[in-house]
Amino acid sequence: MKKRSVFILKGNIVYSKNQKEFSICENGYVVCKDGLVEGVYKTLPFKLGGNPIRDYGDALIVPGFADLHVHAPQYSYRGLGMDMELLEWLETNTFPEESKFCDLEYAEKSYRIFVENMRKSATTRACVFATLHRPATLLLMDLFEKSGLSTFIGKVNMDRNAPDYLREETNESSEETLKWIEEVIGKNYSNTYPILTPRFVPTCTDELMKQLKQIQRKYTLPFQSHLSENPGEIAWVKELCPWSEFYGDVYDKFGLFGGDTPTIMAHCVYSDEREIRRMKENGVFIAHCPESNMNVSSGIAPVRKFLEEGLHIGLGSDIAGGSTENMFRAMAHAVQSSKLRWRISDDSLKPLTAEEVFFMATKGGGEFFGKVGSFEPGYEFDAVVLDDKRLAHPQPLDVRSRLERMMYLADEREVAGKYVRGKEIDIS
Ligand code: GUN
Ligand code: FE
Repeated sequence: MKKRSVFILKGNIVYSKNQKEFSICENGYVVCKDGLVEGVYKTLPFKLGGNPIRDYGDALIVPGFADLHVHAPQYSYRGLGMDMELLEWLETNTFPEESKFCDLEYAEKSYRIFVENMRKSATTRACVFATLHRPATLLLMDLFEKSGLSTFIGKVNMDRNAPDYLREETNESSEETLKWIEEVIGKNYSNTYPILTPRFVPTCTDELMKQLKQIQRKYTLPFQSHLSENPGEIAWVKELCPWSEFYGDVYDKFGLFGGDTPTIMAHCVYSDEREIRRMKENGVFIAHCPESNMNVSSGIAPVRKFLEEGLHIGLGSDIAGGSTENMFRAMAHAVQSSKLRWRISDDSLKPLTAEEVFFMATKGGGEFFGKVGSFEPGYEFDAVVLDDKRLAHPQPLDVRSRLERMMYLADEREVAGKYVRGKEIDIS
């Protein structure tokens, strides 16, 4: 009989079952059995005695965070060019930098920095854009595989409206994608998966979308792209695809908008009722990227509406639209921007709560990966240990307050341990 592998973490356990409240077990135990959560206990049941226990003292233990939208090659210029809107920023900063990833030596230098910092962060899962370069994308996948994080990584497709130095011919783009997928299959990764990644409608022809759908069918791949981020972008999509009912309808017409295709759409700042309804019908995941939406002056997405409508929604750092991989910042920014939206433009949607943004960072985004992002029994065991003693305070604080405060104050220095699918990650 196969030996069962059980271990137990002890500390202040906090997780979400729903958007409205934290589930908190002070001084409790979370039990991992064969890579899955067996349960959370205030008192350890007799039957679990004798298994190894790692005691993290007064630290908090939470599910790992999911970053549903991040651009790996953009890590090098985060915090730069923040005085531009999306389309100008892409042309001035993004495309010139991404073109450098045809050089594997540069790619390695850049991706090593990014993956190192992701490894040390509180993030356990991520959906990542690379560039259109196949060798550099594989290199990024190798690095993430070694990190132990569980990731979806996409070779980007672009066959129009991009500079010559960063554009593929249509057939070349799908042929390179096919080659890339075959190479990924040959690698037999255990934590790293490919995801189809046309950059967005303005840079991808209808013909390329059709070819990507064929590839999607052949290999049953998930899909990620951008949607309704900026008014100029949306008007451009209408010009390029006058036959579409709305922006998301373009992806949907090609069978690349949920349904049988697990799909993440980043931003959705300006999604109208029709687009929201279609995302709901098709089970599309929204990656809410609040810092990016501020930095490139996109706007503020109606997140409470998405939550009330029951859409799938998680958080994204959207580096380098966002400046940091630190998902605590994404949680705080989500609360802060929702308050400005409520105060300035629409008091019908109340500001987000700490409970809601924590839910999005864990269970909401985690769901894209399966049963991920909670400590309910049967969930994959992703856990992060947070030791907040650096953030000294004179008064007693309860566990909920300590977690809320960390959303504003914490970074990788608070991460004292990290587990993905029951395996401990080296965060040194
Ligand atoms: N839309 C198309 N490409 C990008 C990108 O790299 N970043 C963001 N924020 N939006 C995009
Ligand atoms: Fe993006």
